[in-house]
Amino acid sequence: MYAVTLEEFGEPDVMRWSEVPDLPEPGPGEVSIDVVAAGVNRADLLQRKGFYPPPPGASETLGLECSGVIAAVGEGVRDHRPGDRVCALLSGGGYAERVVVPATQVLPVPEGLDLAAAAALPEVAATVWSNLVMRAGLHAGQTLLIHGGGSGIGTHAIQVAVSRGARVAVTAGSQLKLDRCKELGASIPINYRDEDFVAVLGEFGGADIILDNMGAAYLQRNVDALAEDGQLCIIGMQGGVNGELNVAGLLGKRGTIHATNLRRRPATGRSSKAEIIAEVRRHLWPLVAEGTVAPIVHAELPVTEAAEAHRLLDSPETVGKVILRIRES
Ligand SMILES: NC(=O)c1ccc[n+]([C@@H]2O[C@H](COP(=O)([O-])OP(=O)(O)OC[C@H]3O[C@@H](n4cnc5c(N)ncnc54)[C@H](OP(=O)(O)O)[C@@H]3O)[C@@H](O)[C@H]2O)c1
Repeated sequence: MYAVTLEEFGEPDVMRWSEVPDLPEPGPGEVSIDVVAAGVNRADLLQRKGFYPPPPGASETLGLECSGVIAAVGEGVRDHRPGDRVCALLSGGGYAERVVVPATQVLPVPEGLDLAAAAALPEVAATVWSNLVMRAGLHAGQTLLIHGGGSGIGTHAIQVAVSRGARVAVTAGSQLKLDRCKELGASIPINYRDEDFVAVLGEFGGADIILDNMGAAYLQRNVDALAEDGQLCIIGMQGGVNGELNVAGLLGKRGTIHATNLRRRPATGRSSKAEIIAEVRRHLWPLVAEGTVAPIVHAELPVTEAAEAHRLLDSPETVGKVILRIRES
């Protein structure tokens, strides 16, 4: 089969579409998928540069999510059959013609949803749902601040939060991104280049929940922007890993800081990918099926142009996800 390989760690052009050994047949509880499209994530850019090695046992090939058609099912798999249109959360290996994945990480693609576009969903759906709903309990009437509102994660989080009746504030670095966030339902747009998000949130009584991609750089200001009993969910480290915090401020407002990583969760058991995907399927998937929450795809490129896709994700003009087309559906 063919897959994207890395000649070495480095710039986007180190990626090659090359012949690699075929994968084994799916084992008990696993399925194999003929991949139609793979989502591109910020984590892939880091892995390509050598900064984000896959967890033990995961494929070395890039790609944390895909869509496609079930090729074969292993022993004990009841939920899926060969020929089913699906998308899947992966620990790696999505930039390839075929993947083998635990059946518990596979979701059916609702009728009417474009199969390639569905590759844009599993990673954002699992990340957003596990943080905002399962951890922080986001509900109607709350104010949510999403940093990087125009990102793949941000554009999905806006839709989920609006569907739950929350008021959504977003930060972004350009008017183009803020306008798109408003179209998706955000009502408090903040350009982080010339506005202070702490001051803006202060006018609205603070944020009940913050979804943060910046880590250390925003740590103190995020706590400052929280409302009483507010919760900060850190999912990214784009602003570094070592921060300083005045703990008194957090105590005073009875704040909570969560920090989670999806890829390193176990496949099954407590806090696992299986647990999250089951919740996503039960509660979020009906919203996807009815079109309330949709994949936001900025661009679809052939997998042979993976380098261009990585450059595109890094560009300030990109709103939402970039996906790689592996084969026609
Ligand atoms: N923990 C987990 O399990 C998990 C899972 C998935 C993703 N993530 C993380 O979630 C984040 C988003 O992922 P993605 O794949 O959706 O990334 P993405 O589409 O590449 O988006 C990254 C975003 O960061 C924004 N940004 C840059 N500087 C900023 C600043 N100072 N303040 C606010 N936003 C800023 C950029 O927007 P502007 O152009 O507006 O600056 C861009 O939209 C990443 O940090 C990623 O590592 C974590």
